[in-house]
Amino acid sequence: MSYSRLRSNADYTNAYAQSVAEPEAFWAAQAERFTWRRKWDHVLQWDFNAPQVEWFKGGRLNITENCLDRHLASRGDKTAILWEPNDPGEEAQRISYRELHARVCRFANVLEHNGAKKGDRVCIYMPMIPDLAVAVLACARIGAIHSVVFAGFSAQSIADRIQDADAAFVITTDGMARGAKKVAVKAIVDEALRTCPGVKRVMVVRHTGEEVDMQAGRDVWLHDELKQVDADRPAEEMASEDPLFILYTSGSTGKPKGVVHTCGGYMVYTDYTFRNVFQYEEQDVFWCTADVGWVTGHSYIIYGPLLAGATSLMFEGIPTYPDAGRFWQVIDKHGVNIFYTAPTAIRSLMAQGLDFVRPCSLSSLKVIGSVGEPINEEAWHWYKEHIGKDRCPIVDTWWQTETGGILISSLAGITDEKPSYAAWPMPGVQPVLLTPEGKEIMENEVEGLLAIKFPWPSIIRTTWGDHERCRQTYFSSYKGYYFTGDGARRDAEGRYRIIGRVDDVINVSGHRFGTAEIENAINESEWVVESAVVGYPHDIKGQGIYAYVIAEKPVTDPDQARSEILATVTKMIGPIAKPDKIQFVSGLPKTRSGKIMRRILRKVAENELNSLGDTTTLLDPAVVDEIKAGRV
Ligand code: WT7
Repeated sequence: MSYSRLRSNADYTNAYAQSVAEPEAFWAAQAERFTWRRKWDHVLQWDFNAPQVEWFKGGRLNITENCLDRHLASRGDKTAILWEPNDPGEEAQRISYRELHARVCRFANVLEHNGAKKGDRVCIYMPMIPDLAVAVLACARIGAIHSVVFAGFSAQSIADRIQDADAAFVITTDGMARGAKKVAVKAIVDEALRTCPGVKRVMVVRHTGEEVDMQAGRDVWLHDELKQVDADRPAEEMASEDPLFILYTSGSTGKPKGVVHTCGGYMVYTDYTFRNVFQYEEQDVFWCTADVGWVTGHSYIIYGPLLAGATSLMFEGIPTYPDAGRFWQVIDKHGVNIFYTAPTAIRSLMAQGLDFVRPCSLSSLKVIGSVGEPINEEAWHWYKEHIGKDRCPIVDTWWQTETGGILISSLAGITDEKPSYAAWPMPGVQPVLLTPEGKEIMENEVEGLLAIKFPWPSIIRTTWGDHERCRQTYFSSYKGYYFTGDGARRDAEGRYRIIGRVDDVINVSGHRFGTAEIENAINESEWVVESAVVGYPHDIKGQGIYAYVIAEKPVTDPDQARSEILATVTKMIGPIAKPDKIQFVSGLPKTRSGKIMRRILRKVAENELNSLGDTTTLLDPAVVDEIKAGRV
């Protein structure tokens, strides 16, 4: 049985049943759509205890041959990337499959000409311009492993990631424009590279035209390099399980980890989910508003859409520039059919009122989607009514950097939807709810810890340079399961609703941070003795960051002290990790063994002062009264 697209609820039910009964036959049929230089020997070999998961072992391929070359005969002139610039006065760009293929080949030759080869790590730090997609694909073309770092991260974060991956190559731009702001991108990279002696070559794309320092022997301009290479570059033949990319993400420990995805399984799964979740059709214009610096951009701006031969819109700007109607104007301008964004964006635009929505027709829209955090019912209904005009199905897609693609979602217009429910597992995905002791809960209308008991093709393979960390983080809490870190509810019919993280991870505007990571940054301020960070409900961001800080001496100028902390967090991580609230305290609620009782800190941050629970086991119960009284 092979589906090009599931077209009815019965199709979904049948596909799901087959994917559980005969997973290998199911995924082998999906994999048949692609160009393989050599077919696989084994569809799946796995052991969650090691952990070791291998899909399509023995198969040989290149994902860019499938994203580009495979489409040239039938879709050569079709627009692959439709680029909308930050400045609405600047012209949009349409890059056909043929042109994209040529640009990727040339860029691949530049990489090679500069010494990069298969298996090398390449760090990419760029704004949302077509060259970013070209750079990513050029790495994949030669088998170099890309590590994209979101262009809002600080120099320190870039340096950490370059060092961890031991990347010898960097691709960046002179500058970038975000709304009315200009950012000196190359200067940030220069600062990062002061502590990265292993970087041999920096390739710089001219974008804003501003002046930059070029370090002789290390830095080269892409436009100069492009003149020196051939137009063609056949795709490097890769093994299915060769790494395709590393993407750093935060967890409950201090240091972000490099999630590794591989070529074959990631290709099959991102293509499958793209076509089915969004019910993509050949003429559709698809727009995912994420940044390529996050996994959503990897899977649903670049790889998924291009594998399917789609037109993928890439937007350089921000939702509120030049005004809060920009998303809606761009939808009308380009006739966007499928629109995929984050709840935080919906909530912030909802707060701007309907004046920005009304002038736009939005009549091209067929499907609208949501990703990154739970979407509250109010935002869901606003999105449905005012953007989807009550005729577009909403897909609320639950997944993670580690899962590579969407695991739980309704299929647009095919399986039913229910506000605040991601709803149904994708074919091939076997979710379970566990008790804290690790027992599977079989009934419906229950809550539990969300785990997955069978591998899907784009599951995380390892964390770069530290396989044990991968085992510990995802496969050791509950033996035999991939543990997601999320809590979930299952309703009477079996739909899933994601409740949120159950670990020390906070999700701020859809961006993931470990509380320990932010605490480490805050503690970099000389006069900070100790800090504790928790999340609290935030109307726009989903979760806000609340920091409790113990200072060396009494704080005489709290505003000054706060701005110093914000500056330190900006320097260590980036502005997106800045605490929303900072409270100076003389102590933290600790148990006699020295463990911080975060439950109490969370309750205070949530303003639930009357349900703090038992505080008698604290070393110094009086500190709780001080914290309650000083709540900000
Ligand atoms: C965490 C993963 C998936 C790409 C963007 C975020 C939360 C994600 C949903 C959703 C409720 C969601 C989870 C998850 N999350 N999508 N539809 N409903 N929560 O990727 O940075 O790896 O974060 O985001 O808590 O564990 P990420």
